[in-house]
Amino acid sequence: MRLPRPRGPITAALFTRLSSPPPEPTPRPEAAPPPEAALPSEAALPPEAAPLPEPAPLHETAPPPEAAQLPEAAPPPAVVSSGGRSGPPSARSELADGDLQLALFACYELHYQGFDDADDRWEWEPSLLATRAALERRLEDALAALVPRPPAVPPAGVRAALVELTADDGPSLSAYLRREADLGVFREFVVHRSIYHLKEADPHTWAIPRLRGGPKAALVEIQADEYGGGRAERMHAELFAATMTGLGLDASYGAYLDRVPGITLAVSNVMSLFGLHRRWRGALAGHLAALEMTSSAPNRRYGDGLRRLGGDRVATRFYDEHVQADAVHEQVAAHDLCAGLAAQDPSLTGDILYGAACALAVERLWAGHVLSRWRRGLSSLEQESGTRASLAARSA
Ligand SMILES: [Fe+2]
Ligand SMILES: [Fe+2]
Repeated sequence: MRLPRPRGPITAALFTRLSSPPPEPTPRPEAAPPPEAALPSEAALPPEAAPLPEPAPLHETAPPPEAAQLPEAAPPPAVVSSGGRSGPPSARSELADGDLQLALFACYELHYQGFDDADDRWEWEPSLLATRAALERRLEDALAALVPRPPAVPPAGVRAALVELTADDGPSLSAYLRREADLGVFREFVVHRSIYHLKEADPHTWAIPRLRGGPKAALVEIQADEYGGGRAERMHAELFAATMTGLGLDASYGAYLDRVPGITLAVSNVMSLFGLHRRWRGALAGHLAALEMTSSAPNRRYGDGLRRLGGDRVATRFYDEHVQADAVHEQVAAHDLCAGLAAQDPSLTGDILYGAACALAVERLWAGHVLSRWRRGLSSLEQESGTRASLAARSA
């Protein structure tokens, strides 16, 4: 995939940097002489050791380095509809800010498939990591403002708390797609989801080397299914590509990155944030559990909706597969992964539930946004390079 179109000052500055090679590392200073040569001979030693200079005063705790300066943020776009749910407007604006979310998405993408027109060495370029850290701070602040920390529970209560959290999975997008959506709306739904589903499971895979014992085995069990159990054609990302092709959409990776709004990118960015930082490993486990625990029944409705609209077995297979697979995954994720991790490391209990709550909150914002657009007969995609009508026309 190529770098997307900039959406504001942050992405304009970032993509200009990524279009050039990263700065050359500064040359290392001249090698010091070997230790023997540097030692004074015994004869040259002073008779008494010279007094040591006073040590410089130490700060109690070194302050963290200042994050790299970002260009002035663009004025926030209209706040996405929350589907009737409340939340601090500034947090919702940040999550809907296409410039911010696309910039962060691009920084993260360097750790996945990358961009054809960005040098791979940018992935670990210190100045770019500093930019990413500043963007991540805005995302973390928005999540903290939007998502209250779930009440503390003992490790043994994690599974029940997850069940309670996921009992209400937000505006019923799946009911709408099952019964009311036309083909153009269903295509839009698939376009939004392509941002994650074409790399499905990858963000949660980052947790594997950070876990051990039972929770690690549980995560690998889930991920093995997501990656097709060794058969490329059964990988969930491949099944989703087949759904896209069946709907006349472009199934190439990142094809619709320019078309999705900030809130769609935020859904993926939250996973990458939790995935790429070991300190968020508990949240990542909870995030995966929330996805798995709210997947089986909606996927049945998505599949039914697509069949109603004429989708064949190949097109609906992605959804049909998840009805069964996620009925199992939700048990493994809630019990073996999350409850197991909390028992192993009780200090992660709060983060596990917070990660689940973040997944649900951002998903609800996204669902509220697309539903409010569709119910008014409007496209939920970015309008610049096409409309809902143009998506439908392409496959006619
Ligand atoms: Fe899956
Ligand atoms: Fe799954």
